[in-house]
Amino acid sequence: CGIVGYIGNRDCAQVLMDALSKLEYRGYDSAGIAVHENGGISVVKAKGNLQMLRDKLEKGGTPQGHCGIGHTRWATHGEPSDVNSHPHGNGKIEIVHNGIIENYREIKEFLLHKGYVFESETDTETVAKLLDYYYEGSPEDTIIKVLGLIRGSYALGMVFKDFPDRIFAVRKDSPLIIGVGENENFIASDVPAILKYTRDYYLIESDEIAEIKMGSIRIFDIRKEAVSKELHTATWDVDAAEKGGYEHFMLKEIHEQPVAIAKTIAGRFKDGIPDFSESGITAEMLGKYKRIYMVACGTAMHAGLVGKYLIEKLARVEVTVDIASEFRYRSPLIGEGDLVILISQSGETADTLAALKLSKKLGADTLSVVNVIGSSIARESDYVIYTHAGPEISVASTKAYSVQLTIMYMLAFQLAYVRGVIDADQCREYVRKFQEIPDEITALLEDKEQYQYIASKLMNADSLLYIGRGLDYATSMEGSLKLKEISYIHSESYAAGELKHGTISLITEGMPVIAIATQEDLLEKTISNVLEVKARGAMVVMLCKEKAQVASNVADYMIRLPDCEDFLAPMLTSIPIQLLAYYTAVLKGRDVDKPRNLAKSVTVE
Ligand code: G6P
Repeated sequence: CGIVGYIGNRDCAQVLMDALSKLEYRGYDSAGIAVHENGGISVVKAKGNLQMLRDKLEKGGTPQGHCGIGHTRWATHGEPSDVNSHPHGNGKIEIVHNGIIENYREIKEFLLHKGYVFESETDTETVAKLLDYYYEGSPEDTIIKVLGLIRGSYALGMVFKDFPDRIFAVRKDSPLIIGVGENENFIASDVPAILKYTRDYYLIESDEIAEIKMGSIRIFDIRKEAVSKELHTATWDVDAAEKGGYEHFMLKEIHEQPVAIAKTIAGRFKDGIPDFSESGITAEMLGKYKRIYMVACGTAMHAGLVGKYLIEKLARVEVTVDIASEFRYRSPLIGEGDLVILISQSGETADTLAALKLSKKLGADTLSVVNVIGSSIARESDYVIYTHAGPEISVASTKAYSVQLTIMYMLAFQLAYVRGVIDADQCREYVRKFQEIPDEITALLEDKEQYQYIASKLMNADSLLYIGRGLDYATSMEGSLKLKEISYIHSESYAAGELKHGTISLITEGMPVIAIATQEDLLEKTISNVLEVKARGAMVVMLCKEKAQVASNVADYMIRLPDCEDFLAPMLTSIPIQLLAYYTAVLKGRDVDKPRNLAKSVTVE
């Protein structure tokens, strides 16, 4: 979910709607706003995406005022509906919430006993009512009291009818920033929401409370002691959160990859060898770890998988990849001397954050690879390497994945060097070749027609398979996820050699199979697997290098990639898999940037 708040001279409802539109990637099941108006608080909310709320405001009248809060929801407790939408409250106190209140049943029980009646099924309504129960005229005392009683993760924005000149906000484990303007201030879950108005912001820490007025911001802790804060300035430009002429954010972000990769490697070399000592992690330290773990969710986990193949191949160090939600509950065998690398675009994914905390507790060193500066995972890890993708708005990750891969390569090169597997010259040579990648991607992006054509062949499929071996298997997992998450075509990824052990029985006449075969030493093997599916009627799309010798009867459609070192192929293959997913979703008329049921940043378990 995403929350926002505004106080200042502008039309509050308009600012809230604009800010919410930048946070819609965090959830879009329903949305709502609450604005101080004529001595009361007016609340308007609607099921569906922001446009539904916009329509409702246009029809029913937009609240006129200068202070209010807003919310865009990704449902956890209670289905998407008007009543379950935020803000929640009773007109005296209204709140918006991102996160989960774990003990809401207990609180609800208590409040039912006290005679409260509940309208929604949400955990948030229990907090709104608990605030109401303890409220005796001081918002600050009430909030402190309630903070002592609720458990879970939350960022809350609150308005009190008796105090029309201020917003209150608190957080625990869910992201929250306070945007600082001139005679106007903001709250938001993320920086893009406020970029149009200001670049300056404070990061709120867990259990800090903020009272925000037009001309002042007061931040204090639960003992009411003032907390002083450092003012941050966002370096992202306003355009970063706009589509800039592209039909979708996803397509824009696909095109931003060459620049994002170049920015992510810039300045991170010493004598031509990758160097992350700016992050506190020196070559010497990297060389000493016994085992490395990569823990992440979704696309970020797929980047970790590529990292595993690379590091094991190039640096000969054992790497285990784990899905964060599995890792945290399987009593992982880690401890001192191990390095856990947490990969996350948002830096807020709840399972990844929990895996980080667990790793620290067990004594391992933690290194995060994160895109959002100052996010929870970045702040809690021992070391952080920032990727420099800029804001990624499309729910389906593209440029954030490429820059995560970029860091995997840099780490693999550095590790291979410090462990003595390669010498300095060889390492510089790897780096030099990697530095050509941004230009090669730019060239690949020039010819998009073939992807549109092949997408037209995929769009009517009920189900399809992505196959590959080795590094290509890792890429095919991402290809499959990308395609299914935005086109809603069922898709699975399989190690090409594993198909014959069960999955091949799914192949029927015309079923698409996308085979990635960029690894020279595995080409023959993959071709054999492709022929096995072809013989059973599959429609084969094959991705391989320019120079790969593939007989004309193997594939129905061929996508050729520029020749490169085998280990670099995942950087280039990511472009066709993204474009195939994109155009298939476009042809199917899907909401590409905001696929159903998903959210970009999942701050719940
Ligand atoms: C969500 C998004 C995915 C993303 C995953 C991990 O499920 O929809 O695109 O890969 O979270 O997000 P993170 O911010 O930790 O990289």
